[in-house]
Amino acid sequence: MMNGFDMNNEYIEAVRRINAGKSRKLFVLTFGCQQNEADSEQVRGIGLLMGYSLTETPDDADIIIVNTCAIREHAEDKALSMLGNFKALKRKRPELVVGVIGCMAAERHVVEHIKTGFHYVTFTLEPNMLHLLPEVIYRKLALGKRSFIVGKDDGSLTEGIPAERSSGFKAWVSIMYGCNNFCSYCIVPYTRGRERSRPSESILSECRGLVAHGVKEITLLGQNVNSYKSDMDFATLIENIALLDGDFTVRFMTSHPKDVSDRLIEVMGKYSPKIAPYFHLPLQSGSDRILKLMHRTYNSEKFLTTVRKLREAVPGIALSTDVIVGFPTETDEDFEDTLRVLREVEFDLVYSFIYSKREGTPAARMDGQVDQARKDERMSRLLALSDAFADKKNKELIGTVQRVLVESRSKRGSESSYTARTLTNKLVHFTSDECLIGEFTEVLIEKAGAFELFGKLKK
Ligand code: 5AD
Ligand code: SF4
Repeated sequence: MMNGFDMNNEYIEAVRRINAGKSRKLFVLTFGCQQNEADSEQVRGIGLLMGYSLTETPDDADIIIVNTCAIREHAEDKALSMLGNFKALKRKRPELVVGVIGCMAAERHVVEHIKTGFHYVTFTLEPNMLHLLPEVIYRKLALGKRSFIVGKDDGSLTEGIPAERSSGFKAWVSIMYGCNNFCSYCIVPYTRGRERSRPSESILSECRGLVAHGVKEITLLGQNVNSYKSDMDFATLIENIALLDGDFTVRFMTSHPKDVSDRLIEVMGKYSPKIAPYFHLPLQSGSDRILKLMHRTYNSEKFLTTVRKLREAVPGIALSTDVIVGFPTETDEDFEDTLRVLREVEFDLVYSFIYSKREGTPAARMDGQVDQARKDERMSRLLALSDAFADKKNKELIGTVQRVLVESRSKRGSESSYTARTLTNKLVHFTSDECLIGEFTEVLIEKAGAFELFGKLKK
């Protein structure tokens, strides 16, 4: 059969037959990271194969799939409250199918809570199990059964699930799944399982196909892309992608500082700007004591050395990072160490998070949890510092010409305003008489704030 993947063809066909002649609609709601966005594109791809059309609202949907995030408590609360909202819809339309996928669907206690507390939820399906989607939907539609698939991930990998991509010129390409690092605060190794890398040939042929279809930006995705390992390592994989003919850039998300090899730095320098001169390098903390407790396996000195090498090899590279504030036992001194590293690096952007206790992780059981007021106070100091550097870095670009990929009409400004992204991943607003969405162009930067740039088209 066409478009099939692994063993689920019979269920795709069965659901398709059930849906035949009816107008059935699928709504996918996505929380969390780019990996979830990419997974949702696959859910839509499978949905189309099963005879659903896509809708942008839950109100006229026959099936609602909520793709959840478990990284912090706040993310879980948001998803659960959204699920609560669907109760009224289900009352109005008893045939409604509601499914939960994503990281929360891999947490046994959450699945138990959903099973007993949310009777209208039809199925949960943990990550790496999307190939079972047709089967759990079939079980509901044909047999009236609820399914809760958790703890079944055996580390295998399913190729060939079709993605219904939401953009014609930007594409996510997953290269590896899962994480082996077990940072002590992080739930991801428990929800997305052990690392597994896709064969390089299928990644390369996917990229070739995308470029042939005019895709201008490929983002390689994985929890820890630079520990990619198949018949080649990450540096060689991205080099091979950069060597493909075509006018496109390649980016990647997310990296672990311990895995940034000298060879990757060299490849980034050699192929910049085809490999975008941008690196998201999560620091988490600048205190060596806290880094050890976090199980990060590098210290601040090693991190700073990596930054120096990157800046030498890739002129104009932009750097962003993640920082956690208020990890258990974090003292004022530890926090000052973090600020010291931030001052030294001058990141273009810092994503900062207040430590959130995740059940089942080692840090949740540590003594010395930091009280909320102290976390809040440290967070506001960190934001003030990181915003000041973001502003400074962006203002340095005033007067320069930046190559940008135009993404959409701008939400700020007139009909002829557009939003684009520099190769260094910064937002730029500019005006143009011609619609340039999906095209590369050049913009002269005239004004800059901490989070956006303003410019005019270079004639
Ligand atoms: N609490 C707060 N932030 C966290 N992150 C991961 N786990 C937690 C947690 N328990 C942050 C890290 C990671 C980013 C994606 O989310 O900074 O890099
Ligand atoms: Fe979580 Fe650490 Fe893995 Fe990133 S590298 S997903 S922070 S365990």
